[in-house]
Amino acid sequence: MSRPAAVILAAGKSTRMKSELPKVLHPVLGRPMIEYVLDAARAANCEKLVVIVGHKADEVKAALAHHSDIQFALQSEQKGTGHAVMMSAENLADHDGPVLVLAGDTPLLKGSSLSRLLGLQKENQAACVVGTAITEANHGLGRIVRDAAGQFLRIVEQKDATPEEAAIEEINTGCFAFDGRQLFSALQRLKPDNSQAEYYLTDCAEILLKAVQTVKAFPVFDIQEAMGVNTQEQLAEVAEILQSESVE
Ligand code: UD1
Ligand code: CA
Repeated sequence: MSRPAAVILAAGKSTRMKSELPKVLHPVLGRPMIEYVLDAARAANCEKLVVIVGHKADEVKAALAHHSDIQFALQSEQKGTGHAVMMSAENLADHDGPVLVLAGDTPLLKGSSLSRLLGLQKENQAACVVGTAITEANHGLGRIVRDAAGQFLRIVEQKDATPEEAAIEEINTGCFAFDGRQLFSALQRLKPDNSQAEYYLTDCAEILLKAVQTVKAFPVFDIQEAMGVNTQEQLAEVAEILQSESVE
């Protein structure tokens, strides 16, 4: 069993940043925001880092070329988060161990939280552990559906949620710890049968559960830490938080 690998999603286009620069290259305290995510993955002992590039791929690759521990995988068409992770199949073909899946636009992620997520995956011998957070500001995020006993059932996207599901305050942060083999076997079974006709990574959790694998969800992140940067305002907010943390 090898050390964990990490797949970092950075192929999407971000219109809300209103900028020509690819979103993940926007600087936070002088460094591209994706570098903070890479650092957190390294701090959690990840060895192979696969960055999924698509929108302005060449620019992102050039900006990160000096990191010798990074590999790139191209997603030429953005068909969803599950499709994005599928692009790393070749890079991880020989990988026998855990795989963290992260987004490149969450620079506040802590290495210690990612370690906890990986620890829970190992402890539970889980095919998948979903990293969740609790927030009233759940708008636009995937909701965590549990049964009456509190066991994880599935993740429902806002656009596919019933009013009852939409009221759930436990959300999917987009950070997962998978068993690598189980991840790629679930990805092969994904179908784009949802309101956005996308291959949702989130469906892997339910697919694995139905295949009688262990799938768990744990609120290991506080909501601020898992915050994705989608606007210039959020970018400024994140810089402020990192600045105050660095003087602590
Ligand atoms: C996703 C999750 C949602 C979660 C939220 C957290 C799915 C289906 N939904 O939603 O449950 O609450 O993240 O922020 O996964 N990307 C690619 N290629 C693609 C699509 C996306 O690389 O084809 C990248 C984006 O650049 C981004 C990340 O994946 O970094 C997440 O994509 P985004 O479209 O923001 O996902 P959400 O719909 O917000
Ligand atoms: Ca998002």
